[in-house]
Amino acid sequence: MTFRARHLLGIEPLHPVEITTLLDLADDYVGLNRAAVKHSDALAGLTQINMFFENSTRTQASFELAGKRLGADVMNMSMQASSIKKGETLIDTALTLNAMHPDLLVVRHPHSGAVDLLAQKVNCAVLNAGDGRHEHPTQALLDALTIRRAKGRLHRLTIAICGDIAHSRVARSNILLLGKMENRVRLVGPPTLIPAGAEDWGVEVYGDMAEGLKDCDVVMMLRLQKERMDGGFIPSEREYFHRFGLDAAKLAHAKDDAIVMHPGPMNRGVEIDGTIADDINRSVIQEQVEMGVAVRMAAMDLLALNLREARANG
Ligand code: NCD
Repeated sequence: MTFRARHLLGIEPLHPVEITTLLDLADDYVGLNRAAVKHSDALAGLTQINMFFENSTRTQASFELAGKRLGADVMNMSMQASSIKKGETLIDTALTLNAMHPDLLVVRHPHSGAVDLLAQKVNCAVLNAGDGRHEHPTQALLDALTIRRAKGRLHRLTIAICGDIAHSRVARSNILLLGKMENRVRLVGPPTLIPAGAEDWGVEVYGDMAEGLKDCDVVMMLRLQKERMDGGFIPSEREYFHRFGLDAAKLAHAKDDAIVMHPGPMNRGVEIDGTIADDINRSVIQEQVEMGVAVRMAAMDLLALNLREARANG
């Protein structure tokens, strides 16, 4: 058994072997998802609850589809509308959940650390679907699978992560994962959007796209997280696009076969030019969505195996 984790709360605690095990299994699930009959019973009899305390379209849909394809009973609880508005604490939410006997709990929350806290209080496997600015592990894993399939390897690549690093859990999880797999990671963006101390993360920091993208294998663009900003981070969207938005001229500094990624949702014309995003010769944005379902199937399958083993051992 090479995947020992009880929960998937972040990339930080994962060993490179666990990452590779998960990606190998996800590769198998890509095959299943492309088949005429897309069904397995890996999670049959198990209950999966998706709890999203923050808006999400693609991540929630991806987890829901992943659970259904593996035969779980899947329930979505939209939490923005309900209990938190009424003042329920996270601990009460956990107690309520325990009474429903879920096996897999998928949680997105606006506060960093909230998902870890919940994991300590519930009797099931917890998957972090994004907590504040902290981590978004399945996004980094789906990005890794996309890169590995496009480039044929997941080591010794030069990867530029560009834009709003400061507010991005996607950037954080990717920096951790790509570093563990021994890639060279560059952060590119205006100083206001690069977190203080980033130089200590084992990355190179650039304030200029031409320099930052030079000879890169992968260009990963990030959404400008306007909802997490309280003003003053960028002069204007027009100016931001001019300096940091990915267009053909800036992409020309990367390797000829460099791939373009974006976790979605995209602000076209702000961090990325629409024609680059849609260029099927460069952009792997649609593949990222496809890999997302497969990676989430693999993650839930592995966690369910560990859960069953733990329960069997009392
Ligand atoms: C990301 C997120 O929510 O952190 N999106 C996603 O998972 N689909 C990135 C983002 O919101 O920009």
